[in-house]
Amino acid sequence: MDYVKTAIPRQERLFYGADYNPDQWQACPDVLERDIELMKEAGVTSASVGIFSWTSLEPEEGIYEFAWLDRVMDRFAEAGMFVFLATPSGSKPMWLSEKYPEVRRVDKAGKREPSGWRHNHCLSSPVYREKARAINTRLAQRYQKHPALALWHVSNEYSGECHCQSCRAAFQAWLKARYGTLDALNEAWWSAFWNHTFTDWSQIQTNDLSMDGLQLDWLRFVNDQHVSFMREEMVPLRELTPDIPCTTNFMGTHEGTNYWQWAEHVDQIANDLYPLPDDRANTWQHAIRADFIHSLMRGMSGGKPWMLLECSPSSVNWGGINKLKRPGAHRQEVLQAVANGASTVHYFQWRKGRGGFEKYHGAVVDHDGSNRTRVFQDCAAIGAELASLRSLVQGDCPVAEVAMIYDWESRWALNTSCGPKELAGTGPFPSDLYTETCFDHYEALTRCGIAVDLLSTRSDFSGYKVLVLPALYLLSEELGERIRAFVQSGGQVVATCLTAYVESSNKCYLGGFPGASLRAVFGIWNEELDNLPADTRVEVRGAVEGSAKDVVERIHLDGAVSLAQAGSEFYAGEALITENDYGNGVASYLAARFEMPALLAFYRRLLEKASLCRSIDLDLPEGVVFRCRDSSEGRVGFLFNYSNQSREVEFGKLAMAAYLDPQTTYSGTIELAPYESRILRV
Ligand code: GLA
Ligand code: ZN
Repeated sequence: MDYVKTAIPRQERLFYGADYNPDQWQACPDVLERDIELMKEAGVTSASVGIFSWTSLEPEEGIYEFAWLDRVMDRFAEAGMFVFLATPSGSKPMWLSEKYPEVRRVDKAGKREPSGWRHNHCLSSPVYREKARAINTRLAQRYQKHPALALWHVSNEYSGECHCQSCRAAFQAWLKARYGTLDALNEAWWSAFWNHTFTDWSQIQTNDLSMDGLQLDWLRFVNDQHVSFMREEMVPLRELTPDIPCTTNFMGTHEGTNYWQWAEHVDQIANDLYPLPDDRANTWQHAIRADFIHSLMRGMSGGKPWMLLECSPSSVNWGGINKLKRPGAHRQEVLQAVANGASTVHYFQWRKGRGGFEKYHGAVVDHDGSNRTRVFQDCAAIGAELASLRSLVQGDCPVAEVAMIYDWESRWALNTSCGPKELAGTGPFPSDLYTETCFDHYEALTRCGIAVDLLSTRSDFSGYKVLVLPALYLLSEELGERIRAFVQSGGQVVATCLTAYVESSNKCYLGGFPGASLRAVFGIWNEELDNLPADTRVEVRGAVEGSAKDVVERIHLDGAVSLAQAGSEFYAGEALITENDYGNGVASYLAARFEMPALLAFYRRLLEKASLCRSIDLDLPEGVVFRCRDSSEGRVGFLFNYSNQSREVEFGKLAMAAYLDPQTTYSGTIELAPYESRILRV
């Protein structure tokens, strides 16, 4: 496992730029010249080029055309800017998908898609892999020594699945390699249920919703196919340009992609994130979710800088309602990423195209084409500000005292099981019970002023004071043993409802939950789970007060003490929060999905008991968040008002200088405008 990433050679400042599609403007050569001028004016350092340009590069099979790209690369180099050169596999050329229909995906119903759209090639097709490799080889050969080339942007937002015969055969081969024998597979999948025992590998389908074991393995397989496709794309790049790092753009907590595994194969972690600004009272909670995703990227980067490779300088065009960003919100989103360790901020997109699906998507340069727009002026101001933050470029965020595990396997296992509960999506983030529970705990910790590092199940968490495991539903015996050892040697672990129900094949543990030998660690037995209708709340009473929703477990004390109990329903009086002294440490269990007041009360108590340090020793008002990052000139603080209302922060006797203007000192009562962000010397 390797989450530690290499720096981009020649990166001396924060990169700032956008996706750029000069291939769409070949008929207007003056546009390139104008763009270079505007980029200089906006403080742009770099652009991702050629993401959807395969046909411009290879208009006919085996016939290549690089003149337009040569010009772009040369002009960037002359202007002292860098190109993140894309491999073009994200969208198939029409000539290719018509000549070789097998490169087009087949849906669950067995129907092959027509040519068109994008991000929809078959993951297994040998033809598509070969064609992608050929064009990548040509690109690498042509630009290997080009001074503008700084990074390979491999494909674009890999995602989705294909159910064609070649994917089915590949799935069967993948299963053979995983299980060895059909007996082992049948046992892992509990396939005697509904008479699903397989007697030949060829019988295995790619899509049987009644088989939770199959569904989980299908998700793993699809993820592996994507990773294998990406790695195959990288072969010629690594061979011909060993010093140019490779990345691909992730999509945060996207459901079908276990990015912890991808992270091991890229040289830089890059993410796309489009939080939708809105005027709802809880708009600041969505900003905290963006922090969660940034923290996740930082975790995948081994705590080193990562790249925000797409965000919008303005509205998107695909939201239900495409609001413009309110004043301050755009700068805040950029600085928020930087505060969480980003060393690159790129937009989608540099210039709005005249036609196509994204002609109304926010861009630095609008159809007007000038520098006089509000968005362009904002971008230029941010470009200048990022240039003045060059001391941050290799700086990391301080290591937190609290770690939280985010695990796609638990999410998949829970989502592929019929029951215990699904949550409808809320807000702009893909949500499900697993991810929502992680967001809840991250939000509560953030609101208590506690920084959190996001880790995988394979990360080393032994150095942390506190380990938080929201809904870690799939939990292997091996991880159970590491958690036990962590508590034994003095760690504090916090687990929630839905912990350790299943082992890695999605089969339930026997002998009472939590499984994975964790019952003794938590000192409880989790007997059963109550699903609540959306409008039902269960009261919580005791050392922590509030309410619970969605899922409530009935647990029995088996050594643990009860901190809080249910105050309603037939299980009133039964424990909902427990604490168990185990070895030199403590294991807490939160047996329900709690609403925020109860979670906040729980974490405030933990803050005291575990003597945790807050990022800043102040009580901050709702929606105000403080983050730190190191720089070559000392520690930098970011004070954000994520709320759309103004907020007052009491600094009291604390005094901090403005980072870019050390003569200005903040102390006493600080008035923050809606979405205001301040950068401070800590
Ligand atoms: C994704 C894609 C981009 C663009 C944006 C629009 O992130 O990678 O090509 O479509 O969405 O928001
Ligand atoms: Zn396929």
